Amino acid sequence: MIKIEELSYQYPDGTRALDAVNLTLSGQSALGIIGANGAGKSTLLSHFNGYYLPQQGHMIVDGLEVSAANREVLRKKVGLVFQHPDDQLFMPRVVDDVMFGPLNLNEAHEALAGRTEELMRFLEIWHLRDRPPFHLSAGEKRFVALAAVLVMRPQVLVMDEPTSDLDPRNRRKLIALINQWQGTKIIASHHLDFVWETCAEVAVLHAGRIVAQGKTQEILSDRELLEQNHLELPLRLQK
Ligand SMILES: Nc1ncnc2c1ncn2[C@@H]1O[C@H](COP(=O)(O)OP(=O)(O)OP(=O)(O)O)[C@@H](O)[C@H]1O
Ligand SMILES: [Mg+2]
Repeated sequence: MIKIEELSYQYPDGTRALDAVNLTLSGQSALGIIGANGAGKSTLLSHFNGYYLPQQGHMIVDGLEVSAANREVLRKKVGLVFQHPDDQLFMPRVVDDVMFGPLNLNEAHEALAGRTEELMRFLEIWHLRDRPPFHLSAGEKRFVALAAVLVMRPQVLVMDEPTSDLDPRNRRKLIALINQWQGTKIIASHHLDFVWETCAEVAVLHAGRIVAQGKTQEILSDRELLEQNHLELPLRLQK
């Protein structure tokens, strides 16, 4: 389903954020990407829908090479929820932001309106529909940004720090939603207990390189590996 080969990325100021990343993920699975601040998680995630294009190496998502030519198809197939909702929300009303993607693809307004309401009620954000996204609380913005991606019915869901700003009840709700969502999921998170509950596999990113990939419980209980990479055991495994 996903294959990354020798993917490197350097920002214009010379910062090398990804350094020959190799990664594979087969089938409808959930992969957690963990790593310290600045490890390169957001840079890597921004490649999955072609927001960034590989400068060196390759990324294949569901048989499609991530490239300028495939960008439009990738944006339909892959839903990317940004680390910072403000990078994603820009319309005057919440409901316009949620419907923006499908309307942009010329989906008929009528069919979309029903689906949007259903999704927003499910996420418990329907009451926010006429508010300007800028004035929402951090956690409210996060659910609106999530709705704006889910309404596109992507095959691959890529989420960057999805639990930031969520209260415990909403975090639980997100875990349930992710676990029942059918499709390939890639989730970057500092919250290792959340990764434990949602991801079958985990890859550890350190200074732009994948230093380990394996079953979630094996990786997340390897104290030495985590500490070497400036991470800590999930709370559930700490005495
Ligand atoms: N626009 C940019 N210009 C220059 N350097 C950047 C830019 N964005 C990120 N970087 C650098 O690239 C590296 C990787 O950043 P990235 O945001 O991918 O890390 P991250 O693992 O997502 O970190 P965090 O856990 O803090 O979200 C860091 O050294 C960062 O300073
Ligand atoms: Mg990040």
